[in-house]
Amino acid sequence: MSHLNIVILAAGKGTRMYSDKPKVLHALAGKPLLQHVLDSANGLQPQQMCVVYGHGGEAVPQAMQDYAATFVVQEPQLGTGHAVQQAMPYFEDDSRTLVLYGDVPLIRHSTLHQMLQAGEGLVLLTVNLDIPAGYGRIVRNAQGDVQSIVEEKDATPEQREIGEVNTGILLAPTRKLRKWLGRLGNLNAQGEYYLTDIVAMAVQDGVAIHTIQPAHRWEVEGINNKLQLASLERVWQQNAARELLAQGVTLVDLARLDVRGNLVCGRDVEIDVGCIFEGEVKLGERVRVGAYSIIRNSTLAQGTQIAPYSHIDSSEVGANCRIGPFARLRPGTKLDAEAHVGNFVEIKNSEIGHGSKANHLSYIGDSSVGQRVNIGAGTITCNYDGANKYRTVIGDDAFIGSDTQLVAPVTVGAGATIGAGSTITRDAPDNQLTLSRSKQVSISGWQRPQKGKK
Ligand code: UD1
Ligand code: CA
Repeated sequence: MSHLNIVILAAGKGTRMYSDKPKVLHALAGKPLLQHVLDSANGLQPQQMCVVYGHGGEAVPQAMQDYAATFVVQEPQLGTGHAVQQAMPYFEDDSRTLVLYGDVPLIRHSTLHQMLQAGEGLVLLTVNLDIPAGYGRIVRNAQGDVQSIVEEKDATPEQREIGEVNTGILLAPTRKLRKWLGRLGNLNAQGEYYLTDIVAMAVQDGVAIHTIQPAHRWEVEGINNKLQLASLERVWQQNAARELLAQGVTLVDLARLDVRGNLVCGRDVEIDVGCIFEGEVKLGERVRVGAYSIIRNSTLAQGTQIAPYSHIDSSEVGANCRIGPFARLRPGTKLDAEAHVGNFVEIKNSEIGHGSKANHLSYIGDSSVGQRVNIGAGTITCNYDGANKYRTVIGDDAFIGSDTQLVAPVTVGAGATIGAGSTITRDAPDNQLTLSRSKQVSISGWQRPQKGKK
């Protein structure tokens, strides 16, 4: 088989998105629409990939700069045929060209693969609709052979009755496509160069025309407004949820899960409602995630339990940890096995050793905490002096009393005890009690201040 070029049309204004952002950069499942298409296209290992963009200036090529694709601007936009023409200089004759759309994000690899296998000639992806309004109709002769595509605005009343419509996605021999595009005119209802006019030219040239239908209607649905974006988002999320369920993950409600990236789960993982997973997330065996938790770019080892409303970002959590409710692990957090992080505890850029606990109302930043350490309620590391950040080091088996401030840089020795309410500004030695609060006194006969006379 000859090699493959892919052209992705993405020049449309997207007027009905009512947004300053180019339409194809709006996100679906956390990823720009165009990126969904580029990823599917890449899966076909094309020789050349070309994105035709228009509105939004350089925003489109800039956002997609990691892709090995050529970006060509189409200005002005004179129709789909004109758009494809912009890519033709980059394609060799002896190849095939697949036309995809930057605003049709959910086209599946298996459908495109079927098109590639359909045989030489022109391959059209079509669907049958009960209400075909708005689409180009597939016109066939009495033998059922495709004769042409007629756009709705140019169609006769009889042609408008046809339920088989053009999805826009097609595959053509490049040499022929180049020739056909060169012959397009714009004498039609919209004054545009229609890509669809190549079908009648192919018939004239005796080129075989094949039609393929996608397994799912949503694969070929385009996005023109926020309502369509939201409904395809739900399709994507339901697919993600079904896939997880099929792998044995327990989801309390498949409609109340959002995966914006890649979620990998071990056996017997349970996820309660309202959770959001972003980027690359790995959950080990028997991990349980409580309701309304948000986990981004993190790994949680087996047996760890996340209580509701916890946020975990760019962190590594060991086995059998207990986190939350209302815990916040910020980037650079590393919890060893069996650590406990309770409510309203924030940890950033810190390692917490095996079995250590910070159960209530704390901020631990830029710290190295040893094993079996107990961090009392309200303990704060003062890691920032307004200009620089410093580290706090806490040795194994230390006990930090409630409401302690550890003013970094500072080290608390192994087995040390810090008295509650202390402000620790110098290192605390191993195995001793260190405290910095003044002695409790009671003053007899003391009177509360009275309101002064005006
Ligand atoms: C097109 C098809 C129609 C099909 C329908 C499916 C043509 C002439 N018609 O109609 O048969 O049923 O799609 O949705 O092809 N675009 C550009 N540059 C342009 C014009 C369009 O990049 O100059 C891009 C748009 O961004 C969009 C896509 O091509 O992603 C389709 O354009 P649109 O104007 O929506 O075509 P339709 O009229 O819907
Ligand atoms: Ca359209």
